[in-house]
Amino acid sequence: MRQAGRSLPEYRDLRGDGDILDAIAEPELAAELTLQPVRRYGVDAAILFSDIVVPLAAIGLGVEIVAGRGPVIDRPFRAHEDLARLRPLEPEVDLAHVLETVRIVVGELDVPLIGFAGAPFTLASYLIEGGPSRTFGRTKALMHGEPELWHQIVDRLADIALATLRAQVNAGASAIQLFDSWAGTLSAADYATFALPASRKVLEGMGDLGVPRIHFGVGTGELLGLMSEAGADVVGVDWRVPLSVARRRIGAGKAVQGNLDPAVCLAPVDIVIKETTKVLLDAGGEPGHIFNLGHGVLPETDPGVLAQVVETVHYWQPGASSGEVAE
Ligand code: CP3
Repeated sequence: MRQAGRSLPEYRDLRGDGDILDAIAEPELAAELTLQPVRRYGVDAAILFSDIVVPLAAIGLGVEIVAGRGPVIDRPFRAHEDLARLRPLEPEVDLAHVLETVRIVVGELDVPLIGFAGAPFTLASYLIEGGPSRTFGRTKALMHGEPELWHQIVDRLADIALATLRAQVNAGASAIQLFDSWAGTLSAADYATFALPASRKVLEGMGDLGVPRIHFGVGTGELLGLMSEAGADVVGVDWRVPLSVARRRIGAGKAVQGNLDPAVCLAPVDIVIKETTKVLLDAGGEPGHIFNLGHGVLPETDPGVLAQVVETVHYWQPGASSGEVAE
């Protein structure tokens, strides 16, 4: 459950209201923030406390994460000259703090740690727009108007994502997730031409490491078939598409991840349990389902409700020692 920490009082106490990038830069603190939701909820995996823009900040791009808004870039990309600012990432130097966090967390966890990176399309959209966007107008104008420049940008971002993920796995992460949060803004044809090849470079580039690869997007119902061709083992699905339908679009041999609507967690707890159960039943009892929310936890969510969600998932888990939960 991404951003599960945000709803926790212990997270707010520890994190304070400083810049999140400063918190990420302190390994002991970032490790503790990673562990808090695992301790509180007993989830089956942890997700590293970092952010998709951290590698961009690390190569000196001037990034700030503005609360309630998202990442904002100092000098947005406009022209060919900007490419020079996208230098190769040297993870052991540039991301030394993040890798230290991974090592600390892995030493303390008894569940797997999921490492992650932003997919080239989503990162490019931040660089070109200068921040979050509703229309992705500048991104799409550059993509269509200057396809050669576009492909160079996403190719460099693919190398950065790949270096980030490989280093996280080498430091101890047991699975990786590629976050293409905003890919759902693209038509299938544009996704195939402008986003898929760079994401494939990242996911296929992880193949030799033998860790499960998860491919995440939001609003990607129309893209699931294409996303399943990008080289991941697991395809994330948001709440707009039932998992049984998603499975048909994704095809055999892949697992699915999803897909409770995070906003449903604001409803009365009995409704939340019913909706959670629906997701589990819709996954069809077939192997290869990672239960999670279709997007991040909303900060106003009651932690008690999330605990009930986790308990419901564990109750239904095949082979779970459900006796104590069932009574
Ligand atoms: O889930 C976790 O808490 C683990 C770490 C994590 C963060 N960001 C920390 C964070 C992960 C996996 C991310 C990924 C991320 N960051 C994505 C991809 C996943 C997705 O949600 O689509 C994206 C698009 C970002 C960029 C980003 N960072 C946004 C849009 C925001 C929200 C801004 C806001 O305040 O509404 C952030 C900030 C951010 N990153 C927070 C956290 C816990 C929340 C603010 C905070 O605690 O300071």
